[in-house]
Amino acid sequence: MKTLITEEQLRQGIDRMAQEIRRHYDGRPLTIVGVLIGSLVFLADLMRRIDLPLRLELVQARSYRGADTRPGPLALNLDLLSPDVRGRDVLLVDDIFDTGNTLWELIPQLNELGPASIRSAVLLHKENRCEVPIKPDYVAFNIPDEFVVGYGLDYRDMYRNLPFVAVLEASDREAADAETDIENMASKAEQG
Ligand code: IMP
Ligand code: MG
Repeated sequence: MKTLITEEQLRQGIDRMAQEIRRHYDGRPLTIVGVLIGSLVFLADLMRRIDLPLRLELVQARSYRGADTRPGPLALNLDLLSPDVRGRDVLLVDDIFDTGNTLWELIPQLNELGPASIRSAVLLHKENRCEVPIKPDYVAFNIPDEFVVGYGLDYRDMYRNLPFVAVLEASDREAADAETDIENMASKAEQG
């Protein structure tokens, strides 16, 4: 695991972002819509630094499948959590803007729920990967095109609990693959 962004750097980047957000909304109430699961850790830290009247809603989006480190088809789940955003200023919070397809598909769906406005904030922005004509309004860190884990981001659902952001190396990938294989074998054995 190669550390890319330390805990201290994360703290500073998120502080800066929280100040920018507070300046823009200038005392107006804000509804944060967090995109599960990857934004969870960032979301918890960011929202505690935003000094505004604040509501929290959640939606779920998944684009990575299994051992792929490139995005697959996107599955959005707005129904399960049905965010209440009518007439509100919404800030969509996600872990990373990679191809941009997640936000590109999520924003029109949220728009149908009648918010007053929608802006977006991401912890990480991968350079030279964008496939859509939008950009996030707030970015804490621009990073090179490498697969990263930690601080909420996963590879095969592992490494979300690292307190820093790291580049996934071949040995980490193998460890996560082995872990997943062992679990799969165990559940197959149980099912007989
Ligand atoms: P996009 O739709 O291509 O912008 O991808 C956004 C989603 O893909 C993020 O919310 C993450 O869940 C996932 N993702 C993209 N790049 C990475 C990465 O380097 N590590 C872990 N997850 C990633
Ligand atoms: Mg995600």
